[in-house]
Amino acid sequence: QNGHKKYTRVWCDGCYDMVHFGHANSLRQAKALGDRLIVGVHTDEEIMKHKGPPVFTAAERYKMVRGIKWVDEVVEGAPYVTSLETLDKYDCEFCVHGDDITLTADGVDTYHLVKDAGRYREVQRTAGVSTTDLVGRMLLLTRNHFKQGQYEYDVAKEHSSTMGQDSFARSPWTGCSQFLPTTQKIIQFSDGKPPKSSDRIVYVAGAFDLFHVGHLDFLEKAKQQGDYLIVGLHTDPVVNKYKGTNYPIMNLHERVLSVLACKYVSEVVIGAPYTVTKDLMDHFNVDMVVHGETPVMDENGSDPYQYPKKVGKFMTVNSGNDMTTEKIVDRIIRNRLEF
Ligand code: CTP
Ligand code: C5P
Repeated sequence: QNGHKKYTRVWCDGCYDMVHFGHANSLRQAKALGDRLIVGVHTDEEIMKHKGPPVFTAAERYKMVRGIKWVDEVVEGAPYVTSLETLDKYDCEFCVHGDDITLTADGVDTYHLVKDAGRYREVQRTAGVSTTDLVGRMLLLTRNHFKQGQYEYDVAKEHSSTMGQDSFARSPWTGCSQFLPTTQKIIQFSDGKPPKSSDRIVYVAGAFDLFHVGHLDFLEKAKQQGDYLIVGLHTDPVVNKYKGTNYPIMNLHERVLSVLACKYVSEVVIGAPYTVTKDLMDHFNVDMVVHGETPVMDENGSDPYQYPKKVGKFMTVNSGNDMTTEKIVDRIIRNRLEF
């Protein structure tokens, strides 16, 4: 076009409360329909009015959406009903949403204006994950946690479907996940870029359960220590061993996608050993191992970071954020009557 290449700007909007890989997958598909992805996120007041109180504050929700690698710009406080004026204001050709209907408190389709104007495109919603489903997992976790002795296995028996699970992805709790992970999805989420020979490689490991703002701030700090960030994710049984009760809430495959959607992450190790060994560090050419300021548990009486510490390749960073998966569960319990 005469050297004036017009980039197609694509608009998405939503609450993005408890951002999960389903949201990320819709943004990934939206981005593929154009060149730049602009995401409008609603205020707490708007969400309160149409849907009930959000679990995360507007500031937290904006940050989480900014952390997703397919997002180019975030518009804070976007209106609940998408108007042509909004699309024009941000120079977006069309609006993209998943194939589910979103209604206002008055029962109006929030996309009726852009649909009528032919400026609406649909992408496939990710089956098996939603904020409602995650909240359900957490409420159930708590109820069983408080009321029963051997809750872990009772829950699995009542609610699990064995679909899509392998022996490593199965934890006492996440037996209830209905999401079907495929290699295709992992490929779509992955960068697929190996490190360059000059890259300084940083390695972090953890549960990264219910990927949240604390994790995001931590990964940003970790990434600042090098060029290529590898995240090792522990298996469900390992996470359960050190977090207890019915953790993790998301199974290994779900956690892989959540972490891969983060813009700071270059690569993920699916089922990383708890102890960071010399073998692991040599294999991935790790220059620095990083952990946040949260406590580290010993494995069989020894520090999992003993080796990197010995060779002077370990450091702690302060994420500046005290969010934890447990805190999210707490917020939900406090809100539970309103859900
Ligand atoms: N979305 C999706 N797959 C899911 C959940 C959400 O593709 N499993 C998409 C929605 O279709 C929408 C975008 O994510 O295009 C933002 O949706 P938002 O308003 O934040 O959330 P909900 O649709 O209410 O999602 P949830 O049920 O998880 O709250
Ligand atoms: O608890 P989990 O294993 O998911 O934590 C993964 C990493 O994120 C750890 O290094 C932990 O210290 C860090 N983290 C953090 N700030 C938070 C939550 C986690 O630095 N608020």
